[in-house]
Amino acid sequence: MSAPAANRQINNEVPLVYTEQNGILHYEIDFDAFEAAINPSTRTFLLCHPHNPTGRIWSTDELKQIGELCLEHDIVVVSDEIHCDLVFEQHTPMATISPEIAQNTITLMAPSKTYNIPSMGFSFAIIQNPELRQRFQMAEMGVVPHVGVMGYTAALAAYQYGDDWLQAVIDYLRSSRDLVTEFFQEYLPQIKLTIPQGTYLTWLDTRQFAMDVPAQGFEQWIDPFFLRQARVALNKGALFGKPGEGFARLNFATSRSLLLQALDRMRDAVERYATQK
Ligand SMILES: Cc1ncc(COP(=O)(O)O)c(C=O)c1O
Repeated sequence: MSAPAANRQINNEVPLVYTEQNGILHYEIDFDAFEAAINPSTRTFLLCHPHNPTGRIWSTDELKQIGELCLEHDIVVVSDEIHCDLVFEQHTPMATISPEIAQNTITLMAPSKTYNIPSMGFSFAIIQNPELRQRFQMAEMGVVPHVGVMGYTAALAAYQYGDDWLQAVIDYLRSSRDLVTEFFQEYLPQIKLTIPQGTYLTWLDTRQFAMDVPAQGFEQWIDPFFLRQARVALNKGALFGKPGEGFARLNFATSRSLLLQALDRMRDAVERYATQK
C-alpha cells in the first residue's frame, strides 16, 4: 500500500462498500466509484485478491467486470494474489478470466504467507504479455534485489513438498476462523465482523461497543484499549485507509489455546469497561 506514494504516484483509492446482516459484514466493490475514480492519467489498478484485510475472494463476475473496465480504459491490472493458497473457497486468478485480461495483468505471488517464510525474501510476478514483462523487468532493474539461494531453496521445498502440511494448516485456520466468528457472535455481539473466505485475518467493526467515546476521539481511544486492557495487539483499521477508522484487524494465525486466551481477554476487557462506566 505504501508503494505508489513511495514512487511519487497518486494513489486514487476506491473504498469498498459493505452490508451487515446479523453482525456479519460483507464487502463488495462499488463499480460506480471504480469508474468515477478513473482519470486520463490512470495507468495501473492494484487489486488485492484475496483481499487483505476483509478476506474477500472476488468472484469471477467481479473479476471480469474489473478486468474489462481496465481493458476499456487502457489500465494495467496488478493483481496481488499473495494469499491465493490460504483460502477456504475457490480462488480464481485474475489472469485466468480471459486471454485479453491475461495479456493486461501482472500477477504477484509469494510463498511467504502460505508457508510462513517471509524472511526468505522470495516472491514472483507472472506476466504473460512479453512487452509488459519487459517493461516490468526494466522498472525493477537495479532496484528490486535478486532472490538469494536460501529464498529459492525454501520456496522450492515449500511448493514441492508442502501440500499435506498446507492442507492441515488450512483446516486448522478454517476452524479458528469459525471459532472467532462464533465467539464474537455469542460473547461480543457489539463487535461486527467479516467471515473471511481466505487469509488468516478477521476485520472487526469496533465502533459500537463504546458509544460514549466521542467519535473524533474514538480512533485514539480504541487502539490502546485492547492493548492495555486485554493485552491483545490488533492492527489499527485506519492503516488501511480512512474508511478503516474505528475498525481493527485480528490475526488468528496462532495456536487455538493462544487464540482463545486472546478472545477471552477481549471479552473480559469489554465487560469490565461496560460495568465501570
Ligand atoms: C496483500 C499483501 N501483499 C503483499 C504483502 C507483502 O508480503 P511479503 O513481504 O511477505 O512479500 C503483504 C504482507 O502483509 C500482503 O498482505
